[in-house]
Amino acid sequence: MEPEFRLAIPQDLPAIHELETRVFPDPWPLEAFGDLPFGTAWVLEKEGKLLGYIIYLVALDEAVIINFGVDPKYQRQGYGRLLLKESMQSLIQRGHWYFYLDVRESNLPAIRLYQSLGFQSLGTRKNYYQEPPENALVMGLYLINKEV
Ligand SMILES: CC(C)(COP(=O)(O)OP(=O)(O)OC[C@H]1O[C@@H](n2cnc3c(N)ncnc32)[C@H](O)[C@@H]1OP(=O)(O)O)[C@@H](O)C(=O)NCCC(=O)NCCS
Repeated sequence: MEPEFRLAIPQDLPAIHELETRVFPDPWPLEAFGDLPFGTAWVLEKEGKLLGYIIYLVALDEAVIINFGVDPKYQRQGYGRLLLKESMQSLIQRGHWYFYLDVRESNLPAIRLYQSLGFQSLGTRKNYYQEPPENALVMGLYLINKEV
């Protein structure tokens, strides 16, 4: 059975937060998900199990990835790429052409994935992350009248 890509709903919150605690060294607390922008958050689900999630904030023609993760048991199977591409395609159709994100400088799996879709490094935010402290790489992609 193929995994289902769909918009997140409030009932997904506990599973999203549980996954967040397993994929990030500095997970968001549950309260931080309280105002989750459900219209711009997607999940990948298979047989009732959450495989991954991606959450954006959008403004005008911009979209910023604020959280994105795939269950470690299901990584390296193409699900991260699928979540990223499908969600970007949905956002492009709604008129969001500029994509941005921050990523830990040492997070090569994520950086390689973003680069493979055309994201470029725009700069660095010094000591942006805590626990452990690390610089953020700012990446961006401009996709007017294009597809991912
Ligand atoms: C980043 C992440 C979402 C990728 O999810 P995934 O399902 O494993 O990714 P995919 O299987 O779709 O891989 C897509 C590409 O990412 C890159 N990639 C993924 N894992 C990698 C690894 N361990 N080492 C090197 N490159 C890797 C590769 O370019 C890969 O393409 P390829 O398989 O053709 O070589 C996942 O590693 C994750 O949840 N990491 C922890 C949370 C995180 O870092 N989120 C992003 C914050 S900005």
